[in-house]
Amino acid sequence: MEAQKTLKAGFIQFRPILGDLQSNMEKLSVLIEQAAGADLIVIPELANSGYNFKDREQAFKLAENVEKSVFIDFLIRKAKEFDLHIVSGFNEKEGDKLYNTSVLVDSNGVIGKYRKIHLFMNEFDIFEKGDIGLPVFDLGFCKMGMLICFDWIFPEVWRILALKGADLICHPSNLVLPYAQQAVPVHGMINKYYIITANRYGTERGVTFSGKSFISDTIGKTLVMAKGNEDTVKIVEMDISKSRNKMITERNHALDDRSPEDYADLVL
Ligand code: ACM
Repeated sequence: MEAQKTLKAGFIQFRPILGDLQSNMEKLSVLIEQAAGADLIVIPELANSGYNFKDREQAFKLAENVEKSVFIDFLIRKAKEFDLHIVSGFNEKEGDKLYNTSVLVDSNGVIGKYRKIHLFMNEFDIFEKGDIGLPVFDLGFCKMGMLICFDWIFPEVWRILALKGADLICHPSNLVLPYAQQAVPVHGMINKYYIITANRYGTERGVTFSGKSFISDTIGKTLVMAKGNEDTVKIVEMDISKSRNKMITERNHALDDRSPEDYADLVL
């Protein structure tokens, strides 16, 4: 399907409370209402549970199955109420395994998910590495892919999503390294797509998250950025035809000018 001319999309920045699903949903309820009128909204990483678990046992207790989740049912209800697509970080349990997941829902239910590939610090002790690749979803009004937080530092995954036709990358995050907000828009510049990084803020058991959620455009310009320490909802209009035009100059194409025969060392 042709992309519609403008898409209204944005982020919710908030501070999930570790282990308090009810209060996280109450807070999100208020913030999602402020996003009414948007087509798509992105919520931070592990928004149902919080991030800095004491141990794997605590993470496991706070995780849910995608098919049987109070949190995802809540997201679907909100998607229906406000006619929205919602992307949210989710502490996912499947059997005895845990995944740091991003789910995509609309009013009809779960459309798809992505499981974080590049785990950060203590996440190695808790989560499995993502095992479902890098899906791109055609929503009609745009094609979108998802990455989660520390995935930001690996250019390969951003490129793969561009090659699969993503117009927009949704990036639920709990960022701690202070320079991510500088670097991420460059992936958008190089791949010529929009990026929404929905970050959290606050300190959780000694780990401080940087807030400053942002949206960047197809030339790497930051269109809006939240402050470092407050609840924020921001929506922008995106012209998806700009993501579909991969010309850099009249003779240079961001993807077609690649030279894969020279890149064999990349997959060693
Ligand atoms: C991170 O990947 N949550 C830093």
